[in-house]
Amino acid sequence: MSDEIRQLDDCLSVRAGALYVEDCAAEALAARFGTPLYVVSEGQLRRNARRLQRAFAARWPAELLLLPSIKANSSLALRRILTEEGVGCDVFGEGELEAALRTGTVPGQISLNGPMKGDGLLERAIGAGVRITLDSRAELERTAAAAARLDRRAHIRLRMRPDLVGHDEPSEMSPSGVSVRDAIQRYKAGIPTEDLLAIGEREVRDPNLDLAGIHLHLGRHSADPEVWRGAIDSLAELLPQLRERWGGWTPRELDLGGGFPVPRDPFGRALPQRASAPPRAPDIDTYAAVVCEHLAARLDGLGIRAAEVQLEIEPGRALYADAGVHLATVGNVKRQTRPRSPGSRPTPRTPTCPT
Ligand SMILES: Cc1ncc(COP(=O)(O)O)c(C=O)c1O
Repeated sequence: MSDEIRQLDDCLSVRAGALYVEDCAAEALAARFGTPLYVVSEGQLRRNARRLQRAFAARWPAELLLLPSIKANSSLALRRILTEEGVGCDVFGEGELEAALRTGTVPGQISLNGPMKGDGLLERAIGAGVRITLDSRAELERTAAAAARLDRRAHIRLRMRPDLVGHDEPSEMSPSGVSVRDAIQRYKAGIPTEDLLAIGEREVRDPNLDLAGIHLHLGRHSADPEVWRGAIDSLAELLPQLRERWGGWTPRELDLGGGFPVPRDPFGRALPQRASAPPRAPDIDTYAAVVCEHLAARLDGLGIRAAEVQLEIEPGRALYADAGVHLATVGNVKRQTRPRSPGSRPTPRTPTCPT
């Protein structure tokens, strides 16, 4: 057995043939807590939050806010760590909103998202001072009514559904080859552009509403940073039309959602279009550079100063995915010579097992 330490990534290593998470032997953790077991490195979670914040904040001239989706990991203990890191949260529904509030997330740094928000949920969010990301014109009206009932002003953003013109390459998640553009239009929430353009100035300037900005979320359809450029282009096409309709309204916050690839990036490897993908997605700095430079340039072209616009991103998997590992115990290994699935490797004659 070798004494060599092989670092697999920031928090996983193999030491003398045994798997370690930071300085903890995986086998000892499994023996102590039993399996199946999720082991998460607090250090790695903090490093990831700081890395994401640094990458974007260094390139954006105004404030940068991280609002990672709690759906990426609903452990309250992990959420508390993110609160300590000054990180906000994207939530969907009552349960996630309560989880975010109970773990000390600053209410003004919570975005309540999702296409089905009941009146009770809207009132809870407005009462707590949570920002609300709206998904339809009807929801805009219901939010104004809920705010009026509470005699509070609701902090809102409108979620657009970006039309990624020219992005006809297949989504990395689609077995049937649906394009990135179609996948976002077909499957993602967000207000269809024609509905957004039908919203009148009187509605957005309702005294009970404070329309702060625009939100979009692509989801994970491609690891290509160029897709972000496409999303920013569709935002830049939309903004002047909204400003014209809404008496020169200018966003003070823009939220580009999540969907950033994770460093371990195992997604879709069983699909033919992903089989030969590089083992690692580009570094987060690459995305930050594309996003910040392109967004600032497009805003400048519209006469909007980036220095006056808060930038928000909502990485979920990019934050959590390489912070831990799932441990399981192999109870039995069953071997057979036939039938074999096409493409499977021949069964080794001598069974091997990691020590
Ligand atoms: C609105 C919103 N933001 C952020 C995310 C996080 O996406 P990801 O984990 O791919 O970064 C999701 C996930 O579906 C989402 O719905």
